[in-house]
Amino acid sequence: MEEKKILIRWNSTYELGHKEIDTQHQKLVDIINDFYNAFATAQAHNKIGDIIGELVNYTIFHFTAEEEIFKNSSYPQTDEHIKTHKLFVDKLKVYHQEVKDGNMTTTYDLMTFLRDWLIQHIMGTDKTYLAYIKLG
Ligand SMILES: [Fe+2]
Ligand SMILES: [Fe+2]
Repeated sequence: MEEKKILIRWNSTYELGHKEIDTQHQKLVDIINDFYNAFATAQAHNKIGDIIGELVNYTIFHFTAEEEIFKNSSYPQTDEHIKTHKLFVDKLKVYHQEVKDGNMTTTYDLMTFLRDWLIQHIMGTDKTYLAYIKLG
């Protein structure tokens, strides 16, 4: 069996110390890797579209869970963080449609966008609210 192609290799520096959130982030990375693998092995665009559809759904699930956690804390950037999530989901939905339409240039852009965005968001924005959660 061919080895699965990896875009983002999960490592412990991505762990923020919150089990539920870390597990969800890891799952997001898994789906992004599924997407990359499907792209790199030239799968049909409707199959790639299905994976992006799964990514849209899981992202919404994760953002909702995350927002529930920080909305109930003293985290001062709550509104800003929610706005960032919303922009990301909106962008992802546009990409999803374009991938479904078979636009492979967009698919390539999406790959680099996802890789850069997710890690920056986890290590930057998400890290900031966890400090408030630990304070209780
Ligand atoms: Fe977030
Ligand atoms: Fe997150």
